[in-house]
Amino acid sequence: MKTITTFLLLASPFLFFAFCIQLSAVSADIAVDDYVRAINGKALRTRVEYYILPVNRGRGGGLALDKKLNGTQCPLEVVQEQTEVSNGLPVTFTSVDPKAKLVRISTDLNVKFSAMSICVQSMVWRLAEFDEPAQQRFIEMSGVEGNPGPATAANWFKIEKDGDSKDYKLVFCPSVCNFCRFACRNVGIYIGGDGVRRLALVNFDAEPFKIMFKKVSSTY
Ligand SMILES: *[C@@H]1O[C@H](CO)[C@@H](O)[C@H](O)[C@H]1NC(C)=O
Repeated sequence: MKTITTFLLLASPFLFFAFCIQLSAVSADIAVDDYVRAINGKALRTRVEYYILPVNRGRGGGLALDKKLNGTQCPLEVVQEQTEVSNGLPVTFTSVDPKAKLVRISTDLNVKFSAMSICVQSMVWRLAEFDEPAQQRFIEMSGVEGNPGPATAANWFKIEKDGDSKDYKLVFCPSVCNFCRFACRNVGIYIGGDGVRRLALVNFDAEPFKIMFKKVSSTY
């Protein structure tokens, strides 16, 4: 009996060690798939067109552009189509890593609409200045692609998993500037007095805009 106890005492650190290896192997398996995937299961490619579609049904469609809440036309803001059947405008993603061919979760990305607008302006998403009347941060078409750093921090968004679900969400939490201090926020939907569903930053306890990605040329 004594020898068995001694053996267990001596062996237990190793057993524990083995257990830890087991655990890390499991978490590594999960961490391996850090690519953002479209509805068809394929990892999103940079510079390829996708629709950003809502996961929840009956609450609007894909993404589009609209004037500001106060009626100012340009730069246009990112809104959600009112009707669920509309895919809206396609977007393309580019990574902070210019060599990246696939879109990774939790990575700084530029998002660009694949469209033209009446405003002679960029089609790259940028977090707008604080909208005083609405007390919101909307997203407008005044961004530039690339040049990661403090000056471009407002142009970078990330795609994250929404908890343990297979749904995704957009977040504003740029890592392009080490010494900038941002409170990371989810992108949600704010419905203003005009009834338009604008993309806006929401607190982490508020519901994010849960999204999925559909390749433009894909039928499913
Ligand atoms: C409308 O709102 C934008 C953004 O908040 C602001 O820059 C602009 O000056 C406003 N325009 C008017 C006419 O109030």
